[in-house]
Amino acid sequence: MSEPPPEIVQAYATLFEGLDQLGPGSTATREAVLALVQSRLPAMPEIADMGCGKGIAALDLAAHLPTAHITALDNHHGFIEALQGERITAICADMAAPPLPPSSLDLVWCESAIYSIGRRPALDAWRPLLRPEGLVAFSDVTWTTPSPPAEAEAFWAGEYPAMATPEAIIADLDATGFTLTDQLTAPRSDWRAYYDPLRRRLDTLAPTATGALAEVIAIMRREIAVFDRYGDSYASTWFVAAG
Ligand SMILES: C[S@@+](CC[C@H](N)C(=O)[O-])C[C@H]1O[C@@H](n2cnc3c(N)ncnc32)[C@H](O)[C@@H]1O
Repeated sequence: MSEPPPEIVQAYATLFEGLDQLGPGSTATREAVLALVQSRLPAMPEIADMGCGKGIAALDLAAHLPTAHITALDNHHGFIEALQGERITAICADMAAPPLPPSSLDLVWCESAIYSIGRRPALDAWRPLLRPEGLVAFSDVTWTTPSPPAEAEAFWAGEYPAMATPEAIIADLDATGFTLTDQLTAPRSDWRAYYDPLRRRLDTLAPTATGALAEVIAIMRREIAVFDRYGDSYASTWFVAAG
């Protein structure tokens, strides 16, 4: 997958200033996913949060797993520079080639970020990092219907051409040597938790925005409008799999 141009990356960084949740998500959903994996983690789990953004998941993981150590990894330095927490190590790196030793992780967590490098490259890169009983838990946007509304399909074909059905994602897991153990559909309120503060930020920035920032604002407004109209035809889905 090709990296977006630097001015677009910078525009997203500007847009996300002051926001914590950079994709659909919530503490309640993280707890629900953790409930699926917790009994399978060792006493002192070693976890990586790939594409951690501002670290909202890493902070929740550290709070809910009091003996875990979490490496929070993101390739945008500005997102992680303020991230601090007990038992959290923030590193600026590419999650397609994480600078972590082989067989060193019990859990790879990736919330709303796997799309940016592609599922199979991500899963191929992460599997060697897992210990023998290690797990991945990631969320991805998935179609909930085989025939989505044309407008939603057209929007996502432009923004996320690899968006798939859960069945296709399970096939990606199989092809990369993983075995699905659990699947969970996040509630629509997880999208609101992301979009409501974002909508306010868009309204603040829009009047003076030019260039790449104006472009990104228009895309995000369109994304929210598509969700308002057609959000039932897709979902944020969590996949838990053994490596
Ligand atoms: C939609 S945001 C989600 C952030 C966070 N997980 C959350 O849910 O709030 C996607 C994140 O992936 C990061 N990212 C994109 N490509 C990356 C890469 N190749 N390596 C590491 N991080 C990457 C972005 O900087 C961004 O923080």
